[in-house]
Amino acid sequence: MKTMIDYKSIVENKLKEYFDEYKKNSSYSSKIWDAMEYTTLLPAKRLRAVMCLETARLLNLDVNKALPLACSLEIMHAYSLIHDDLPCMDNDDLRRGKPTNHKVFGEAIAVLAGDALLSFGAQIIADKSEFNSEITVELLKEYIRVSGALGIIAGQTADIEAENKKINLDNLKYIHKYKTGELFRCSFMLPIIATAPDNGLKDMLLEFSLNFGIMFQIYDDIIDCTLTTEELGKTAGKDASSNKMTYVSLLGLKEAKNIFGGLLNKNRDILNKLDVKSDVFETILNLLDKKVNN
Ligand code: IPE
Ligand code: IPE
Ligand code: MG
Ligand code: MG
Ligand code: MG
Repeated sequence: MKTMIDYKSIVENKLKEYFDEYKKNSSYSSKIWDAMEYTTLLPAKRLRAVMCLETARLLNLDVNKALPLACSLEIMHAYSLIHDDLPCMDNDDLRRGKPTNHKVFGEAIAVLAGDALLSFGAQIIADKSEFNSEITVELLKEYIRVSGALGIIAGQTADIEAENKKINLDNLKYIHKYKTGELFRCSFMLPIIATAPDNGLKDMLLEFSLNFGIMFQIYDDIIDCTLTTEELGKTAGKDASSNKMTYVSLLGLKEAKNIFGGLLNKNRDILNKLDVKSDVFETILNLLDKKVNN
């Protein structure tokens, strides 16, 4: 059985392989590919890819067949991070422990690198996944929906518009569900689309993914104000200094931790009910728990 570390290295090797292969075909200079590769391959947790591969295992889908899907999620994620960090968005200098994409390559190239990654993730599904054309279309439809204005971008728009404002908890939940939750749900949906499992297991996995998405952004809001810049690999205290609406700014640190804990317990209960044990999902929950509560 594979661990989180195994999955992480399989995904990172495959991502490198894809970049090498496509970069060779570049008709212009490799500069845009260098910028795309830079943020994608910096050290990261790879949670979305790992969760996709673990979901695939639970659904008896071979890891090699799920690998292009897992890579496409990391590529979409990298796009969202590059754009999220831009001066016109969150204006961040540090990402994954290194200068943000626009700090290294300039704003214009960072915008283009984000755009190019958005398409590249879909291209990887189209070119590399080995499912029949009907399934491939469904996988692409999911990727396109989640990465666009019906998914992450809806959440990012609401997030930017909520800056310097007070919004209610329902609106904040909306932001978290879309800007972060949709991509986590997609990590489960892609292997679900590829295997069409029975409803019982599908429903449990999707409920886990929905809780996880909200819980993960609450975790991110909490650690923004409890960990150091060095521990985060991104600028600490950034949400407060940018007047961002977060679970911490709206409800306070204690209540944010309570809500996080409630969602964590819900997801631990779901894991206990699954027929097959998942050490990987347990490890991920424990990892977030430790960061929030230690
Ligand atoms: C950061 O995600 C963006 C959010 C949705 C909060 P991660 O914390 O998973 O970042 P990496 O991929 O490990 O850098
Ligand atoms: C991230 O939210 C959501 C994305 C779609 C990238 P944040 O703005 O809180 O993420 P970080 O803290 O910059 O990673
Ligand atoms: Mg943001
Ligand atoms: Mg940000
Ligand atoms: Mg954050």
